[in-house]
Amino acid sequence: MKHLLGIEPLNKSEIELLIENAVRLKADRKCEFSGPLEGETWAMIFAKSSTRTRVSFEVGLNELGAQKMFLTAADVQLGRGEPIKDTARVLGRMVHGAIIRTFDQQDVVDFAEFGGIPTINALTDEEHPCQILADLLTMTELIGGWEGKKVAFIGDGDCNMGRSWAWAAKRLGFSLSIAAPPEFQPDDEFMGRLGEAPVEVTESVSDAASDADVLYTDTWVSMGKEAEAEERLRILAPFQINESLVELANPGAIVQHCLPAYRDKEISESLLESRQAEIFQQAENRLHAQKAVLVALSQNR
Ligand code: CP
Ligand code: NVA
Repeated sequence: MKHLLGIEPLNKSEIELLIENAVRLKADRKCEFSGPLEGETWAMIFAKSSTRTRVSFEVGLNELGAQKMFLTAADVQLGRGEPIKDTARVLGRMVHGAIIRTFDQQDVVDFAEFGGIPTINALTDEEHPCQILADLLTMTELIGGWEGKKVAFIGDGDCNMGRSWAWAAKRLGFSLSIAAPPEFQPDDEFMGRLGEAPVEVTESVSDAASDADVLYTDTWVSMGKEAEAEERLRILAPFQINESLVELANPGAIVQHCLPAYRDKEISESLLESRQAEIFQQAENRLHAQKAVLVALSQNR
């Protein structure tokens, strides 16, 4: 693994190894792996807001011995139209790795190609692989892994999280049920690219939640979609996760949200508060999963 551009390009054993190492790094925080990135400088280029991803990467880079440089798109000439491939060619000669949050997936693909340094997708409109790795770590801790499990993804099924979950289900073989209204279901191009996979797309929230081991949701208004907020909130209103869906899920099912959460929109306030321990464990796991990614990329450069 030379880059982390999505879950799509990964295979099963690469994902399994990352989760195994994340478990180890979490248990041995600051001990066994301290310093493998010593002397390195990593650039973080963020064109969208972030709390979890930014903080977890900054802390993770510190704990692994690297220096970091946080740049918004407005700080660099990218924001004034310099092509991503030229930005990548410059940074590739100076820094040791790049962590990029942006809109177009092609930008992270191009950065990896032209920069020639380990490149991490810290969220694009297409995928959010770092979040999925943290989610798989949380499933390992709370429900013993993903084998034979069913994940219900409820809400905007056509967003980066829905797509990354679909690739995770395909690569790892667990079943995924995406409940979304027709306007927000994964499109035909995506489903064609996904091909055969244990992924069902339905309009029925109760079908998706029935027998689920994980009830998962994400904001109805992803970054960049703010102009559609009113329409999205109206159409997605019946796709909230709340206590009545928990009743349909398997006993012991966990509730997960990649955060930030919008209370009484995609998740009821009472469910979020009653399940905050597992949801914020999931948020903490961003740190441990991403440290495993950084170590893997530094070993394979
Ligand atoms: N879940 C997630 O990526 O959160 P941030 O947008 O705060 O980084
Ligand atoms: N789908 C959301 C995820 C936020 C972590 C977004 O892209 O805004």
